[in-house]
Order: sequence, then C-alpha cells, then structure tokens
Amino acid sequence: MKDEHSAASDLTIARSDFPQDFLFSTATSAYQIEGHSFGGAGRTHWDAFAAQPGKVDRGEDGAIACDHFHRWPEDLDLIRDCGLDAYRFSTSWARIMPDGVNVNPEGLDFYDKLVDGMLERGIRPMATLYHWELPETLSQQGGWLTGDVPRRFADFTVVVANRLGDRLYSVAPVNEPWCVSWLSHYAGYHAPGLTGVANAAKAMHHVALAHGLSATVLRDKGIANVGAASNFEYVLPATDSAADQKAAQLYDGLVNRWFAQAMFKGSYPEDILEGFLPHMPKGWQDDLSIIHQKLDWFGVNYYTCKRIHATDGVWPYGGEVSGDLPKTDMGWEIYPEGLTALLKRVASDFTDDTPLFITENGLANPDTPSRPDLERIDFYDKHLKACLAAIETGVPLVGYTAWSLMDNYEWTLGYDKRFGLVHVDFETQSRTPKASYHALARALAR
Ligand code: FCB
Repeated sequence: MKDEHSAASDLTIARSDFPQDFLFSTATSAYQIEGHSFGGAGRTHWDAFAAQPGKVDRGEDGAIACDHFHRWPEDLDLIRDCGLDAYRFSTSWARIMPDGVNVNPEGLDFYDKLVDGMLERGIRPMATLYHWELPETLSQQGGWLTGDVPRRFADFTVVVANRLGDRLYSVAPVNEPWCVSWLSHYAGYHAPGLTGVANAAKAMHHVALAHGLSATVLRDKGIANVGAASNFEYVLPATDSAADQKAAQLYDGLVNRWFAQAMFKGSYPEDILEGFLPHMPKGWQDDLSIIHQKLDWFGVNYYTCKRIHATDGVWPYGGEVSGDLPKTDMGWEIYPEGLTALLKRVASDFTDDTPLFITENGLANPDTPSRPDLERIDFYDKHLKACLAAIETGVPLVGYTAWSLMDNYEWTLGYDKRFGLVHVDFETQSRTPKASYHALARALAR
C-alpha cells in the first residue's frame, strides 16, 4: 500500500498539541456499512425508500454495503492500527428487532462480538442507538409521526442496554435528530421522504421525545456516559437584507436551536414554535421535562456553513444559495472557522461546562486507491486546528471523531460519495487505507 510522505501529505498538528486525555475516534453507522441483507435484519424504511424510483441515486441500498457484517475484525484492526482511541458505531434497530418489537438473537450477538472485538483491541466503544434504520413495519404504522415510535424506541434501548451496557464507553440515543425529522419529513430528502411543516413538526417533537425516553432508560439502567449527537451548521444570511436575516434566523432555529434548547433548557425556541404550533402533537408540553435530561456529554457533528435567502410562500420562508468557498464533493463549502464559532456558541448558549465531543467531521472526495487524498488531509488539519482554537478559549472539548472510517453508503447519494479514511472497492470489498489514514496515524503517534 502506498504511503507517500511529503509536507502536504502530513497533518501539521499532533496528538501532543491536544489536552492529555483528548480522545481521537472515527465513526460509521450500521446501515451504511454492515450489509442489511445479512444476519436476519429486518427491512428498514431506507430499503423501502431506495426501492422507490428516483429517490436514491442509481436506486442503491444498504443490502451489501461494505459487508462489515462479515469483515468487522479486519475493520476493527484498521481502527487499532491507525492509533485511534475510540470507535463511534451504531446499533441497527431493524437488525436487533426486525419488526421493531421482537428480538433477533443473531442481531444482538453481532453487536456483542463487535463490542468485545473493540475492547480486545483497546478501542473504546461509543454507541449510537439509532442512526436511521427504522424498521419498515414501524414506518408503515406512521413512523416518527406517531408518539408510539418513541415508546418503542425506549423498549429497544432496554434490550441494547441489558446486553451491551456493561461494556460501552458512551451511548447517544439518536444520531442527528434534525436529519431524522426535518430533512426526512419536511424536505423529503431522506427516508421516509415525507414533506411539509405539518409532518415535520410532529417528527421534530417525537424524535426529541425518543431521545428523552431513551436517555431515561439508560440512566435507570446505570449506564455511564450518556450523551447526544446533533448536527450543527454555521448559518449565514445570503445578504444583509432584513428578509434574508429573518430566513437565516429561522433556519438556524430549526437546525441549531430546536433540539439543543429542548435537551438543555427544557423548552423549544419561540420563533420555531410560531410555525409549528398548529401541527404539534397533543400534550407536547408535558414531554419537555422528559426531553430535558442531564447529559454527561454532548456531540457536535459539523460539516459546513449554509447561506440562507428569503423565499416567498410558506413558513419558514427560506432557501439555500451557494457561496464562493472551496467545496467538497458534496458541494458543501469548507469553513473550519464555523466549527470554532459553533463550539463556542453551543457551550455558551446551551451546554455550559458539559464536555463537548466532535462526533462527526469529514469530507467527500472523488478518491481512487492510487491517488493520495491530500484534500482530506488538509480538511482534517484545518478542522483539528479549529478545535484547538475553541479549546484555547475555554470550550470543554474532549474528543474528535473523523467521519468516516471507510467509504460507505451515503444515503440518498448511494456509493458515489467517498468519505472514508480507507478506500473501499465495492465490487471486491477490498479495503485500502488512503494517504489521510496514514497521515492521521502519524499525527496520533506524535
Ligand atoms: C451525517 C450523517 C452520516 C453521514 C455524514 C456525511 O449527516 O450522520 O451518516 O451521512 O453526514
């Protein structure tokens, strides 16, 4: 395997630049890597979504993905050999409970072996319970539009906690609540592909409730290190006009404030409630005390900034425009300064002295196994420096997670977008560590 070592193929930062106990980790998620046709997993709403014409590029789904279900020992070796301290993985609800209710022992056994495999290699297991594979049976019964799913999710949490809870380093109930709710029920961009504020308001509440109920179960079971992982974007108005500023503020409320405020303050932002109120599920106010749980840490997923302009029509009156910064293969602008600013803001507005963890950060790049991915090295270098800048101002940041360990199923965009430190050939399933993997390994050893 090629390891070209030149100035540009190295990170300028080193492990020794960070506080002593700072953790470096990498992340994946179940549906994106495992191969959901294996091991008795149930059909998920992503399988159903991908089967609908035009929803997912090339109609690709997670049936095989990276075949991690069979190749996990090799994948864990890659994490260990990079010198990483932790691995953020997720447990698929549909693998463990194919119909969302009854347990598939083979599914639980899989995660049991996986967690032991991490511990044997000195890797801390950071579990996320839900990274988007809703069992299709529950989706057909109304999914996140119903108050039933958060309660089922609490039952699922009991099953996972009973089996794995004694060995997990940390647990977060729901990955990126905004993606589960708004992106999937307002924008229709992710499964189940619903649209409109009426659907989104219900989903935005039920996903928050699922977090709260699940966190309560984890606490009751005595699980250590309970947290959350939310996505944040650095939001800018497209121009200084009052209308653009208003649209940007609402967009910020939806992405950055709705869940953080509910989790840490026990309330929802007033400006967003204005649009949601007619559509909120009955009795939503009573759920806020459940959503507002003490958390041991809070995870920030950060990729980009967004420029919002005002649009005519219906609430929340906003749309995105493209900016001039260099972009990744996703078309996302690269803006490391936004990470420093967001970390400072999250700490001052919501989390106070709760430890923060970057739970995802990375870029898609059109990589081949033979060409060094210098763009990724540069991206990680700049964002790790942005973390250091936040730490210097007193933000209690305790860890950083690179998305992703390996190229995988990028949801609506299928297998075309490569986020990995490790290249995956989806025909042969062969793994080739990229230049960024080697650069990270060297930086972690310094
Ligand atoms: C995040 C998701 C993750 C991956 C990255 C690129 O929103 O959590 O699964 O798709 O984006």
